Amino acid sequence: MSHDNSTEIVQRGAGEHPERFDDPGVHQPNPRLGDLDEKAAKKAERQVAALFTVSIVGTIVFVWAYFALPPGEKPESMRLSNIVLGLALTCILLGIGTAIIHWAKTLMSNKEYVEERHPQRSDDETRAGAIQALQDGAADSGISRRGALKGAGLTALALFPLSIVLPLIGNVGEDWNVSKFKHTMWRKGTRLAYDPTGRPIKASDLTIGSIAHVIPEDLHEAESPLDEKAKAVVLLVRMDPRDLKSEREPGFGFDGIVAYSKICTHVGCPVALYEQQTHHLLCPCHQSTFDVADGAKVVFGPAKRPLPQLPIEVDAEGYLVARGDFVEPVGPTFWERLT
Ligand code: FES
Repeated sequence: MSHDNSTEIVQRGAGEHPERFDDPGVHQPNPRLGDLDEKAAKKAERQVAALFTVSIVGTIVFVWAYFALPPGEKPESMRLSNIVLGLALTCILLGIGTAIIHWAKTLMSNKEYVEERHPQRSDDETRAGAIQALQDGAADSGISRRGALKGAGLTALALFPLSIVLPLIGNVGEDWNVSKFKHTMWRKGTRLAYDPTGRPIKASDLTIGSIAHVIPEDLHEAESPLDEKAKAVVLLVRMDPRDLKSEREPGFGFDGIVAYSKICTHVGCPVALYEQQTHHLLCPCHQSTFDVADGAKVVFGPAKRPLPQLPIEVDAEGYLVARGDFVEPVGPTFWERLT
């Protein structure tokens, strides 16, 4: 075997692959239509601009739909709002993505370059070469010559963040008053009603061991029923008064019937799994467990405080009514620091 000629093909034996090949060099692809014909390049340029325009139109539609088609409270309006916003967002991102790909494939240089490995810090000559290569690349891409394309691309990219920032800021709106999260729509005399029918509950409806998911009877009259429901939902449990070790707020229950907020004090999931034998309420999100027989204290899991208790009584007709709002904010423990 001879090794003195680097381009020599060395055979390891009949039928085996050679150990060394001639360097085939860098493959240069065939010129594309746009490389040879200025008209074809112009056509591709228009196509790229059109794709960027799709993104621009998408952003305009998104902004329009955000204001003109609010989700509202009804499933139909929510569906329409989501569909239009989703389609607009698709156009925004698809327009930018396909425009960049089409631009790269039809108008940017498709020459192949070889970059040798080198120490991490290049010498000054290489660094200057890199800058030169960047400048050559920029010139090669035609970005400075194609002003319309540059403008359309930059406009599309500049407008795109609106589709993210607008909902973030818009959902908070002008209302930065967080104190409303401390209160729910429970008032003195508000009847407790079954969720979702809104039928008021009589104390006599509940047998020992039963449980009910509860909303305020007048929930549908609220300005934003879903927002109010998210804060006001309650879990009503009737147990044998002899099993009741303690209440969160003594005297807030009625004849073994206790009402606790359904919003987990960890991060706010609905606490809705009740174990009748142990009187434990389980949050399905991170398994916080509350003992309803003992003031809804936390017996397991990451929640740090008991569930707030709703004070209840019975009105003249035998219906369960609230004696007022919760005496502490419902929901995640975070609010405890603000009280
Ligand atoms: S939200 Fe209930 S345990 Fe985390």
